[in-house]
Amino acid sequence: MATPEPSALASDDPRLKIVERTIKKFSHQPDALIEVLHTAQEAYGFLSEALLAYVAEQLKLPESHVLGVATFYHFFSLKPKGERSCIVCTGTACYVKGAGEIVSAIEEQYQVAPGQTSADGKLSLGTARCLGNCSMAPMLTLDDAVIGRESAAHVLERIDARLSEANSSAVNEVHT
Ligand code: FES
Repeated sequence: MATPEPSALASDDPRLKIVERTIKKFSHQPDALIEVLHTAQEAYGFLSEALLAYVAEQLKLPESHVLGVATFYHFFSLKPKGERSCIVCTGTACYVKGAGEIVSAIEEQYQVAPGQTSADGKLSLGTARCLGNCSMAPMLTLDDAVIGRESAAHVLERIDARLSEANSSAVNEVHT
């Protein structure tokens, strides 16, 4: 089986590095599948087709088996829960640089707790242990964008901008 196109998962994406690290930690052993899927979901917020294919290839498992496991356990999600997904790193380096304040600010502003999606379905919030780029602390991902070294106030501005992008494209779709 060919390795999935790096572009499908963006090979320089720090989230992929986290998944890679876990795979290496378990020496690519197929029986580490659940642990690897947990890490992948924690990093990305959900398990995309490309991510499942990547995990299957790395653990030398059939894609159908990996998909079967991912669909069997209710704690895995194959679709993004909110229109936008924000994962805040709460690893030690990020925490000391204010990750806790960022999480609290997002919780308060969008009324969403970590691990949940806002009532309007617009934003999912997650936390991760270490996104593998501690020099950018406090670090977070907003969909596929990586944001680092920003204050809670700036992070909220970025999220607002993303959410209004989503709103305006929805309006455009209605008018086209
Ligand atoms: S602790 Fe946040 S990137 Fe490492």
